[in-house]
Amino acid sequence: MIPIAKPLIGKEEIEEVEKVLKSGFIAQGPKVAEFEEAFASYVGTEHAIAVSSGTTALHLALLAAGVGAGDEVITTPFSFAATGNCALYVGARPVFVDIDPKTYNINPELIKGAITEKTKAILPVHLYGQPAQMDSINTIAEEHDLVVIEDAAQAHGAMFQDKKVGSLGDMGCFSFYPTKNMTTSEGGMITTNNPEMADKARILRAHGEKERYQHEILGYNFRMTDIAASIGLVQLKKLDGFNQKRIENAEYLTEHIKVLNGIKPPYVSPEVRHVFHQYTIRVEDGKRKDIMEYLNQEGIGTGIHYPIPIYKQKLYQDLGYHDKCPETEKAASEVLSLPVHPALSIEELEKIVISLEAGSENI
Ligand SMILES: Cc1ncc(COP(=O)(O)O)c(C=O)c1O
Repeated sequence: MIPIAKPLIGKEEIEEVEKVLKSGFIAQGPKVAEFEEAFASYVGTEHAIAVSSGTTALHLALLAAGVGAGDEVITTPFSFAATGNCALYVGARPVFVDIDPKTYNINPELIKGAITEKTKAILPVHLYGQPAQMDSINTIAEEHDLVVIEDAAQAHGAMFQDKKVGSLGDMGCFSFYPTKNMTTSEGGMITTNNPEMADKARILRAHGEKERYQHEILGYNFRMTDIAASIGLVQLKKLDGFNQKRIENAEYLTEHIKVLNGIKPPYVSPEVRHVFHQYTIRVEDGKRKDIMEYLNQEGIGTGIHYPIPIYKQKLYQDLGYHDKCPETEKAASEVLSLPVHPALSIEELEKIVISLEAGSENI
């Protein structure tokens, strides 16, 4: 089976983990500080705050930005549930705005219509590794005095024009889950140039403590371990190489897939460096299920990112959401992700193309 995702853990990561285990510092310690510094410098921000997951990064970022009960957070419904749930955690209401059908990212033209006096933040997602239209989003945010928090969980190293994601809004949130472009096992990071937000996130990460056993505000235990950070430090050095391989794999797939009937390869905006966390095609005419089953029979792993818009999840239906975002609903019924990860061999890429050719002809 060619898996849809595969973490690439080498000898160096194992050696670094062993060193940390032997050092005695296995919770948050010097390796976390070193990882934060290296990550901030990679992204191009003043600060980086390591946390336990991408979800806790989003949760803390909203708290650090002062988003709370009664506020509204404008975001996309075409994402992993954490994107909407983080607003719920802080007592705010996620307000869903439809996507641009080409990029699958939030459509900036629709954001203005969703702004109310309760709106506090815009939370764009750089879906599949392709940055959202940050120019327009930042302009709208400035006009309406809103905070911008990037959900960069899928986009380590991606760029909008000449800047890396995570440095484009007020804060950026990354996930290091094993399927992501780089991993720490579980883990996450907040990046920001705002010293107050950075300070607040750091305090909230560790039970509201500025000094040991002095709790100024209600905080959490969202810390990263030195074990995870030691993996992250090695992975960060490999990230550009991993991304380059993802981009080349995507180019190969697109070159061969663009001629197939009823299948659309991903669109890449000329303004961005897309790092292909996912390589997601559109299968038109209701043929997705058959193509997917055919590929799976041929030993090719696939994924649907995402089959259900967030507002249609039971949790949101129970909260009274009756939204309708037509482009999101269409995409949810047509998208299909194929393997693009850096561990793929040329033979595996060829097999994906041949199987998709056969599948699209026979179905
Ligand atoms: C877009 C998006 N946001 C947030 C998350 C949450 O990250 P984590 O799984 O590390 O909590 C993920 C990852 O699964 C994601 O893909």
